[in-house]
Amino acid sequence: MMKGSPPTTVAYKYFVDAAKLHASRHPERPCQVLDVASGHGEPAFTLVEQLPGVDVTLTDFAEGMVKVAQLEAQERGITTARFQVADGQDLSTWPANTYDIVMCSFAVFMMDPERALQEWKRVLKPGGLTIFSTWRMSEHDLMGLWRTIISKMAPGEMVALPEGIKDMGNAEPVLQLLSQLGFVDASCREVNVPIHVAASGIPDLFRNPMMAALIEKKTQPGAEREAWLKKAHSIMVDTARNRHFLQEDGSIDTPRQTMLFFTAFKP
Ligand SMILES: C[S@@+](CC[C@H](N)C(=O)[O-])C[C@H]1O[C@@H](n2cnc3c(N)ncnc32)[C@H](O)[C@@H]1O
Repeated sequence: MMKGSPPTTVAYKYFVDAAKLHASRHPERPCQVLDVASGHGEPAFTLVEQLPGVDVTLTDFAEGMVKVAQLEAQERGITTARFQVADGQDLSTWPANTYDIVMCSFAVFMMDPERALQEWKRVLKPGGLTIFSTWRMSEHDLMGLWRTIISKMAPGEMVALPEGIKDMGNAEPVLQLLSQLGFVDASCREVNVPIHVAASGIPDLFRNPMMAALIEKKTQPGAEREAWLKKAHSIMVDTARNRHFLQEDGSIDTPRQTMLFFTAFKP
């Protein structure tokens, strides 16, 4: 069973399907997968559960997240996954041409995408596949609410996207970047998913790995963290109200949330 909020669960399915399809095209070798910025471990764990013999290494630069993923694996009885603390932009632990698939779910926009994609290409075997997802960067969706919170509570923390082409929230510049870096057969699928968050579920939004990592970095556990969360919660509700997302019952409806799902091959 996949964990995660409904929109990300939809995206996880795309990862798993694309990885299974790629593996089925190369039945002669066990499929070796590097999952970059794994957070809690999806979609990597579902892939392990659904693709017999797959060899998956989960990585994240936050040691705490790697531990969370290891615990999750234990709970799910997953014994074959490997874990490693690693920065998705610096995979120097691994030699070139190691992996059949490098995947990264909803995190490349937190990195220097050009550096990251170059590294992913280096560690991919010839013919290897990269799969990654991003969100359309709009003020009119949940990402916009998070971005507002981050800009007010932790300015400068969202890794500043480098100049020009590095807008990961739109298909065209990313496809151009992939081609410029020498990937081939790049494609992007855009999926719209409306989001409904019940009033009681709003605190859970701060448990998403991106926010959890930020909160861990910015605050000490205890009163300081509680106060930070309270303020962030109130910014979220105020911003949702201003953008007409807040419903009478206190829930948040973002009518349009677009995820971009990219695939590209190393020649
Ligand atoms: C939004 S979460 C995505 C987690 C998971 N892939 C998913 O889709 O549920 C972002 C994750 O990226 C990690 N992260 C951010 N920048 C990173 C980097 N440069 N290298 C490795 N991990 C990174 C964070 O620690 C966090 O766990």
